Amino acid sequence: MSQQGPAFDVNAMTLTRWVLAQQRTAPSATGDLSQLLNSIQTAVKAIQTAVRKAGIAKLHGISGDTNVQGEQVKKLDVLSNDLFINMLKSSFTTALLVSEENDRVIQVETERRGKYVVCFDPLDGSSNIDCLVSVGSIFSIYKKKSPGAEAVEADALQPGHDLIAAGYALYGSATMLVISLGKGKGVNGFLYDPSLGEFILTDPNMRIPEKGNIFSINEGYAAEWEPGLLKYIEDKKRPKTGKAYGARYVGSMVADVHRTIKYGGIFMYPATKSAPNGKLRLLYECNPMAFIVTEAGGLATNGKIPVLDIQPTSIHQRAPCFLGSKQDVQELLTYLK
Ligand code: AHG
Ligand code: MN
Ligand code: MN
Repeated sequence: MSQQGPAFDVNAMTLTRWVLAQQRTAPSATGDLSQLLNSIQTAVKAIQTAVRKAGIAKLHGISGDTNVQGEQVKKLDVLSNDLFINMLKSSFTTALLVSEENDRVIQVETERRGKYVVCFDPLDGSSNIDCLVSVGSIFSIYKKKSPGAEAVEADALQPGHDLIAAGYALYGSATMLVISLGKGKGVNGFLYDPSLGEFILTDPNMRIPEKGNIFSINEGYAAEWEPGLLKYIEDKKRPKTGKAYGARYVGSMVADVHRTIKYGGIFMYPATKSAPNGKLRLLYECNPMAFIVTEAGGLATNGKIPVLDIQPTSIHQRAPCFLGSKQDVQELLTYLK
């Protein structure tokens, strides 16, 4: 009889198990961060279920509201936001929340307050929901800096370098949760196993290729780009030597960034004439993605300085964002000078 049994892992590294193992490596850890990450895991599991059955459960379409950025809010945006807020508050580990969907910061009530600040985009790529293209969730975690139990808005206005952790969930052809705890601890990817209801570590220590051959940008706005960027894209399409780059643009940042980490290349959301700070939000889109890409060996810049060096001044502020393979971002920077 063969020694080889069926392909069933009886010792799977689940996300919960991995989080606990990480906690054990820091002897002074209280377990709060583990609890916080587990609450995000619960929110993500519920969102992925809602995304998968949205068409049947009549969750497609708009809620009827517009958000602080003046964008139409979808039913799934509202559901995802409520899940994030409820799970985070009930983890007893957070003091302040910043959500794309909430105009103001959310103060956690005294009885449930902890020491962390979480900024999140509960559902990224909502324009893609109704046509079944990949969407995602993005989050970043800071430790509150101000003294006393109460958190203030300034606690959310920390540069990306001060992040404790960041991650994203991609609701694609499969669901994956990618997390980095920074400090050279790397980036880890967990695929969702629907039969177990668990995230399983499938992509340990993700590294972005040094150089890729894909560029990712909304070319529809090319008439509004700065000349350097225009020239860069032109040279990628018509190189003097070698092969042209491929173009890929999903229009969901999580999907475009995940592909960039896996395959290499560059993702760009630049400033335009009509949007001089670009579109993407610093606190819950640019920073967490820059943190993860940097930790995976890539680079992230606003065209002038590293994204993680930007000192935020308001919670919904936008920033131009260029991130990806080290060599590709470095090359782009020579054009933007
Ligand atoms: P959100 O759905 O959270 O508002 O974010 C959408 C963002 C981002 O996911 C994507 O990269 C970008 O919008 C696409 O914008 P354009 O349609 O302007 O290219
Ligand atoms: Mn978004
Ligand atoms: Mn969103």
